[in-house]
Order: sequence, then C-alpha cells, then structure tokens
Amino acid sequence: MLRDALAIMDLDEAQAASAQELVEELRDRHTSPEDEDFLRSAQAESLSLPAHLTEGLRELRYDDVPPAALVRGFPVDDSAIGPTPSHWRHREPGRTAAQDFWLGLLASLLGDPFCWSTLQDGRLYNDIHPIKGNELHQTGHGSTSVLEFHTEDAFHEYRCDYILLLSLRNHDRVPTTVGASRALRLSGEDRDVLFQRRFVIRPDTEHRRHMTEAEIASYERPVAVLFGDRDDPGVRVDPPYMEALPGDPEAAAALGRLCEQLQAGLVDVALEPGDVLVIDNQRCVHGRKPFRARLDGTDRWLRKLTVTRDLRKSAGQRGHPRSRVLRG
Ligand SMILES: [Fe+2]
Repeated sequence: MLRDALAIMDLDEAQAASAQELVEELRDRHTSPEDEDFLRSAQAESLSLPAHLTEGLRELRYDDVPPAALVRGFPVDDSAIGPTPSHWRHREPGRTAAQDFWLGLLASLLGDPFCWSTLQDGRLYNDIHPIKGNELHQTGHGSTSVLEFHTEDAFHEYRCDYILLLSLRNHDRVPTTVGASRALRLSGEDRDVLFQRRFVIRPDTEHRRHMTEAEIASYERPVAVLFGDRDDPGVRVDPPYMEALPGDPEAAAALGRLCEQLQAGLVDVALEPGDVLVIDNQRCVHGRKPFRARLDGTDRWLRKLTVTRDLRKSAGQRGHPRSRVLRG
C-alpha cells in the first residue's frame, strides 16, 4: 500500500500559498536556484515551512518513518513552465525556477545538493523526460522499456543519500516505482554473501558517454551489495549494469534472490504536478513503468536533485570547495 511505503505530507491551500510566497521572495533575492548563497541559506529559510513537513523530513533523515516520502501541494502552472523539452539541452532557462527553489528548500532539510560533471553538463537540477531515440535506454530519458529498479548512481562511492523528484507534468500518470530494503527477507547465507565484495557495478550509459576508458575500467573493482546494519541493511544495486564476479555462482544466485524480492516489493507512485518524491537512496530502490512517449511537448517531465549528507567526503573529486559538481 502507498501509505505503508511512503510518508505522505500534504500542503493545504494556505500552506501552499505561503510556500509559494517564500519561493517568490527567494527568487527576488537570488539570481537562480543554483546560487551558492541560496543553497547555503536554504536550511535556515526552510525552517519557516509547515512543521509537519520539516519534522517529517527530519524523521526520514533519522530513519523513524518509511525511507521515502511524498510531499504534495506545491503549485505548478502548466503553461508557465512551457513545453516539455525535446532534449535537456534545449530547455528554456528559468521556466522552472519556482519549482527548483522549492526542491532546493526541501533538499536542505536532508543535506547538501550536488551533481555530476558526467550528467547534463554538470547542471545541479536535472531534467527527466523522454528523448526521441532513447526509448529503450535504461536512463531517465527512456520510455517504452521499463526503467529497472536501481540505486541512483550505484557504481559510485559518493552516490547520493537522497534523490528528490519533482513532477512538473505527468498527463498519462506514468508510475514511478519505489521499493525499500527493509522489506527484504533474506537467508543468513545470502545476507553473508551480499555483504561481501563479490559484485561489480558499472557506470550507466549517461555517465559512460563522458568518461575515458581508464575511468570506466576503474569501476571494475568488486563491491558489496548490502552494507550497514546486518538486520536492516542499506542496499546498492543496479541490475542492468552489474553482475557477480566471474566464476562466483553463489554470489550470482544470492543477487538473483535479492533482485526478485526487491522487484516484488515495488510500489507504483503516479506523481501529480507539484508532487515531490523523496527517496532515501541507501534504503530504497526506484524505477519507472514503461509508457509511450508523446514527443509533442506534453510528455512526463520531472526535475531531479540529488543530495548528500556529507559534501566534504567528495572534496577530492570536486574542482574547489564551493563547487558542487563531482567528477564521475
Ligand atoms: Fe534513477
């Protein structure tokens, strides 16, 4: 059930109006939602948001509630945001600034937003929508094939702790899928195997396009799939891009059983405009059901922001301390 899988936080009309007012003030004070001064002050600003929202996200951060949440009620004006872009490079700048500021505010209650040099030219806020020719891709730009469940950027040590998806448009109610690792019922033997470095997770096609062969090869080192608390572990999976080490059928079988359980536990969430799906990327997987792309400017369109609880740990992979762009 949706309510078992997600903490649902609704803004009523008055709360939505004051959230919008706050965002408009921020738009007056900051040049853009990428502005470092905004990102650094966002947490203080967000304290004026309704308490059920700030407390709800704090509970998510401390694992007191389901590891995913749905924040509903922030307005989206369908004509103001313009058509769904045909390609993220062709988006009209500024059209989604209000929604991006809203994402930035919510993100600040969980940690620090960051992005990748290898995704969408290193932009902090990413677009998810179908692209012609990418229908079968296992990325945010596919459509007719299922986007298999995965951990976001599972290949990387510094992958995000949280992923926030804001729906701008979803006329066909295409479901995003979410599943939690705490639902896993694994044998002790499988658990042991999955906690060991017996698996390889490779970068996905979007990242690979901007990597050298040597960089891609560096991700061939074995990693574990489960980590943390043995009884309530975090999970790191991306089935289309991973496998057990060659000659290790025990690990392959344990991974197969884990994936079966994660698949069976997926819940559909059809995001409405203004909905923000907040996903704990250590304790959840996510994906998307297949759909037929319209390619006429009215397609499903989400904005994505990834958040780390500790920006400092990636210092060696960012150009300078004020940069939020990680070298993938
Ligand atoms: Fe994803």
